[in-house]
Amino acid sequence: MPYETLLIESKDQITTITLNRPKSKNAMNPQMHFDMCEALVGVERDEDCRVLVITGAGDSFCAGMDVKEYFYDTEEKPAERAAARKAAFEWMFKRLRLLPKPTIAAVNGWCFGGALAWLAVCDFAVASETATIGLSEVNWGIIPAGGVTKLVSAMLAPRDALYMIMTGRPINGKQAAEMRLVNSAVPPEKLAEAVLDIAEELKKKNPTVLAYCKEVFRVDQNLTLEDAIAWETAKWTELDAIGKKTWHKGVKQFKQERTFRPGLETYEWKK
Ligand code: COA
Repeated sequence: MPYETLLIESKDQITTITLNRPKSKNAMNPQMHFDMCEALVGVERDEDCRVLVITGAGDSFCAGMDVKEYFYDTEEKPAERAAARKAAFEWMFKRLRLLPKPTIAAVNGWCFGGALAWLAVCDFAVASETATIGLSEVNWGIIPAGGVTKLVSAMLAPRDALYMIMTGRPINGKQAAEMRLVNSAVPPEKLAEAVLDIAEELKKKNPTVLAYCKEVFRVDQNLTLEDAIAWETAKWTELDAIGKKTWHKGVKQFKQERTFRPGLETYEWKK
């Protein structure tokens, strides 16, 4: 189904959502939040989709919130602002963060402000070395809010986080990789290939197990060690029960058939 602000393409079990407001540097207006909410429901339901990639059209990944349409134009329209904010939080922090499939951000260009919130909740991120990434809020008199400060701080060393938050100075993709805001940075012409490399690796894994890995990781962030041990044990047991013990195949392939080595590759979970 066509969206006003997004392009969606599915190929070889990899779905790519491209933010598609290139004239506005893919800034997120209210419509984009509504579209993302709907699109992510579709991705979750699509049984053929094994990996989600998100990127931006043109020279921009995402220039953050649309400062005019999201903030300024809704100044006197509290219901409209609330609806847009609700949709924004819904797609970023629930539908994307908790999507039971792997997600990869392909940071192709300009990336500012609110874009770092959903960049942070993607499972993986690869940047073009020449991408420009910044928390520019301070430059125009607001603070990085709506979870941005917390999520970025959770990824970076405190010195780097406060440097970005308080100076507003942007970094390039290479620096973002050094600071671990992204997994890696590659020359712009290699970005698609680098993203595909991760996606293909993920496609080899048992998708049910991947969904459990991700859910356990996300929930663990808010638990004490005691609670996390109990939670992980419970999820292990649940997966064992619902997963039809496919891990027995792994043991057999390793110990009896000697067809794979788990330290180095993935078992044949489909066989
Ligand atoms: N909100 C609304 N409009 C935006 C936008 C945003 N976040 N980012 C870019 N645009 C618009 C520009 O206003 C311009 O619109 P116009 O053609 O109607 O004048 C258009 O996108 C192109 O941007 P422009 O500034 O001309 O491109 P550039 O290549 O010179 O600079 C940026 C690109 C991204 C550096 C610059 O647009 C910018 O600083 N954007 C704001 C980024 C930001 O602070 N985001 C955080 C918001 S919370």
